[in-house]
Amino acid sequence: MNIPREFPEDFIWGSATASYQVEGAPFEDGKGASVWNEFEKRPGVMRDDANGNVASDHYHRYKEDIAIMKDIGLTGYRFSFAWSRIFPEGRGKVNQKGVDHYKRVCETLLENGVEPFVTLYHWDLPLALQKDIGGWESRDCAKYFGEYAELVGREFKGLVRNFSPVNEFLAAANVAYGMGLIAPGLKLSTKRVNQVRHHLLLAHGLGAQALKSANPEAKVGMAENSNFMVPVIDTPEHVEAAKKALREQNAHFVTAMLEGKYLDCYLEKEGENAPVFTDEDMKIISTPLDFAGLNLYHGKRVRYAPEKECGYHIFEENEYTQRTGINDFYFEPSSLYWGTRLFYEVWKPKEIYITENGTRQESDRPDPDDGEVYDDIRVRNLRLNLTQLARAVNHGVPVKGYFHWSFMDNLEWHHGFRPRFGYVYINYTTQQRIPKLSAKWMKEVIKNGRVM
Ligand code: FCB
Repeated sequence: MNIPREFPEDFIWGSATASYQVEGAPFEDGKGASVWNEFEKRPGVMRDDANGNVASDHYHRYKEDIAIMKDIGLTGYRFSFAWSRIFPEGRGKVNQKGVDHYKRVCETLLENGVEPFVTLYHWDLPLALQKDIGGWESRDCAKYFGEYAELVGREFKGLVRNFSPVNEFLAAANVAYGMGLIAPGLKLSTKRVNQVRHHLLLAHGLGAQALKSANPEAKVGMAENSNFMVPVIDTPEHVEAAKKALREQNAHFVTAMLEGKYLDCYLEKEGENAPVFTDEDMKIISTPLDFAGLNLYHGKRVRYAPEKECGYHIFEENEYTQRTGINDFYFEPSSLYWGTRLFYEVWKPKEIYITENGTRQESDRPDPDDGEVYDDIRVRNLRLNLTQLARAVNHGVPVKGYFHWSFMDNLEWHHGFRPRFGYVYINYTTQQRIPKLSAKWMKEVIKNGRVM
């Protein structure tokens, strides 16, 4: 009997990582320092005094890691280039050894049937740019990012087709420059942070343009953890309210990128803290994209609320809702369905990828009896999440792939190594890799094209 597929044959089954979180080798082969190499030295900022000197040692072990990807059956790998491996000072002189390293990684992926999806900036700014020009506070940082993107587009022609210029604007701006929790660890005023946000959007646009002019075959999309909305019940007025909330609650990044303007509600809310920008900036920021990459971990339940000025109400969570362990996010499997569906209905992207989704566990460890890692909660969450994603695919939403965060356990920024997210367990003492139960489950899903 033929079992019907829930996911198309060419659906990309991927997983994701980021350079600082997995690579280690912070100064090898000519790499320049990033803001993290300085930040992690500050007492008390990193849980357990963790640092990225070795991390998951992916810089040296990428071949072994890609072999595991192949064994699971993964067909996509989203990872980031460390800008300072390629431009040690962030601009100017290119470090050919850095370029060559990433070429070898891409070649190895392709040889193993894994499509590379490259992020250009996953929060590890070259330290020199922070020191010399104030990092993203400076408009010039976006210009140098454009030059970096141009070089990557040119050098990786034929190796990489899919790019995301910037990973998650909110963390890159607010958490790094406003809350000071991640590198460079600054606590700037709202006005200055809003300008940082605008410069990051500008970098995204300049990056997209540079990649596409250097390589007309390049496909570019964001990798953004938008505020996703779930209508509280599936009736037209609640669905419409959720769509309105989606546009307005993402006015600072996604709506600006996809509509080429900051909504009045955003500018009014920010008042004198609103960013300074030009019409030309907004044209660059809204350079047409080829796909929407959604880092989708949660969704907020919304109801139609005619009594409110904005027309909708977002529900609060309470102590009984399950948390994902990622920031303040709550577990909401239906956000995989509604998140992708409403995003599609509002902005009509050509393609959608889930560029991140996953589960944090601190309890993952080898079983003392048989050495296997039984991450049963991750399997449970994956099953619930992918069931909802299949629902979206079968509803006609053009979801083309799913990248699990993460491929392997890694350095979860200032939270250190205790949070584990991978399909693959890392023993940080020996660097041994152990594919977890979730990897075995995914292997079945990929083989059968359906949730198992
Ligand atoms: C995302 C980040 C990624 C990782 C996961 C858990 O917001 O992009 O690097 O930290 O959360």
